[in-house]
Amino acid sequence: MKVLVTGGAGFIGSHVNILLLNQGHSVTAIDNLSKGHKEIVDPRVNFHQISLEDQKLEDILQGHDAVIHMASFIEVGESVKKPVEFAQNNIVGTVKLLKTMKNAGVKKMIFSSSACVYGKPASLPITEDCPLGEQENPYGITKIAMEQFCKLYHNLFDFDVTILRYFNPYGPGELHEPETHAIPNFVKSTLAKTSLPLFWKGEQVRDFIYIDDLAKAHVLALNSAGLHIYNVGTEIGAKVIDVVKKIFRIVGYEVPIDDKGERKGDVPSLVASAAKIKKELGWSAKVSLEEGLRKTIDFYRSRPSSI
Ligand SMILES: NC(=O)c1ccc[n+]([C@@H]2O[C@H](COP(=O)([O-])OP(=O)(O)OC[C@H]3O[C@@H](n4cnc5c(N)ncnc54)[C@H](O)[C@@H]3O)[C@@H](O)[C@H]2O)c1
Repeated sequence: MKVLVTGGAGFIGSHVNILLLNQGHSVTAIDNLSKGHKEIVDPRVNFHQISLEDQKLEDILQGHDAVIHMASFIEVGESVKKPVEFAQNNIVGTVKLLKTMKNAGVKKMIFSSSACVYGKPASLPITEDCPLGEQENPYGITKIAMEQFCKLYHNLFDFDVTILRYFNPYGPGELHEPETHAIPNFVKSTLAKTSLPLFWKGEQVRDFIYIDDLAKAHVLALNSAGLHIYNVGTEIGAKVIDVVKKIFRIVGYEVPIDDKGERKGDVPSLVASAAKIKKELGWSAKVSLEEGLRKTIDFYRSRPSSI
């Protein structure tokens, strides 16, 4: 297929590009590099440095079969400080993209959503029919609004829409600035031998999904027609403190813990049911947390400038 990836110079987009190319798809990526890194875009990708809102997108989109939409601002804390920018970039950007896709005759969309849409889940594991929850920050609200606009384009204009609700992605190539995600911060402080920042004494439970497994879900979703919503997680809840201990074991030493106390808005536990995506797309996570952490540690070791 001919696939256009938005946010293709970002952490997840750069991995999805590679998997698509390796499976014989042709890949166009767009990214305005507001947060992304051109050097992680595979050279086989047809790359355009433009925004979702750019008028050139309509011409670029001609002849494509599908869009995988990952371009978004993602940093939760920043979204509290910049709600207007987040609404503009994420929500308005998505609406403009959908409209441009319609004009260009491209009617298949795979959308990057997040488990955050469930808010504080009433029960675990979380299934896709759990209700959407109260949001504690603008980022979560933008994800819900973006989902709703994608669904609207399915309802009004027969778009094929697959919404992928990621749990906690991690892996090589995560170069966010600032980095607010747990695993890259833990690995970087351990390798730098500085203190490791830890909220809630690491008692939260998360479902950490390795980037290669996550990327596969997007490629499988290309074959779906109609409207689908899937959780993408391992179905295994890991206590954050146990992730820290695993990292210490892999590197063979420990660093001091910087107890950051509690953080408003964090839910205690998020674990996916991935039964639906397994049944309908044949997807399941294959990479263990141990193996994924080893590969992630190797990445940061090989790139001391990112530590
Ligand atoms: N990383 C996670 O933990 C996580 C979890 C759940 C969902 N997601 C979603 O996955 C997607 C990708 O996340 P990521 O971790 O790769 O983030 P990222 O910041 O690494 O990548 C996003 C990319 O989008 C680009 N971008 C932002 N706004 C743009 C615009 N208007 N036009 C063009 N490009 C734009 C940025 O430059 C960046 O390269 C996002 O939609 C995010 O909300 C991520």
